[in-house]
Amino acid sequence: MSVIDVYPDSQSVIRAAANRFVSAAEAAITTRGRFIVALSGGNTPRALYKLLSSDEFLALVEWTKVYVFWGDERVVPPDHRASNYHMAREALLDYAPMPMSNIYRIPGELDPVQAADLYEFKMRDFFEGRSESAESRARFDLVLLGMGEDGHTASLFPHTPALEVHDRWVVSQYVEKLKAWRVTLTPEALNGAANILFIVTGEKKAPALQRVLQGEPEPHEYPAQLIQPRDGNLMWLVDSAAASLLANTSNP
Ligand code: 6PG
Repeated sequence: MSVIDVYPDSQSVIRAAANRFVSAAEAAITTRGRFIVALSGGNTPRALYKLLSSDEFLALVEWTKVYVFWGDERVVPPDHRASNYHMAREALLDYAPMPMSNIYRIPGELDPVQAADLYEFKMRDFFEGRSESAESRARFDLVLLGMGEDGHTASLFPHTPALEVHDRWVVSQYVEKLKAWRVTLTPEALNGAANILFIVTGEKKAPALQRVLQGEPEPHEYPAQLIQPRDGNLMWLVDSAAASLLANTSNP
């Protein structure tokens, strides 16, 4: 099931996303005793993390029961200003009363191939443990994602090898257009989530958003099309500027 909610401006999108985060956390903690979330990088999520760490929201989440992962990371040390982990710490995690052992960051300071291998190992250990369960999947309760103007999400960039990987949860790749390495979860891992929330704002994203949501299937051109939870909910929270080229959307 996929839902697209259009809000008048980016602030209302961020507020709606914060409310979704809180209700997803509450539901997961009530039913399973913990909330497993994958965070994203980028500017749009930063505003969300700041709102979640505000007096209004911080106490609404039972942080000791929250487990934090990331959808992608830049190949930089954890204290680097480009690090997605660093951004989330500064905006939210430093304020959230939770044990450091609940935070599973991608080790961006390592060689990217090693970083991906290590994160794959940690994720499999976390989700699969010693269970003999036939189905193995990264069952995040919530995955937060942004989308770039080129239709990328996480570090799944157009025409990159990670789009074709089905047997791994985490890979590293050199992204030519950035002239940089990235470590990213694969669609295989992301699509195991119970809930996936895209947050997209601004008119510059309107053309890609239209192609991703209402265009022909072109996942190599618009990788965000690959995000289709196998057994979960997909929700797009967008502002009216980003939605300006979409037909038939709903305003909550
Ligand atoms: C990253 C992200 C990336 C991001 C989009 C949108 O590490 O950069 O995970 O996929 O979400 O590029 O970013 P903005 O919200 O800043 O436009």
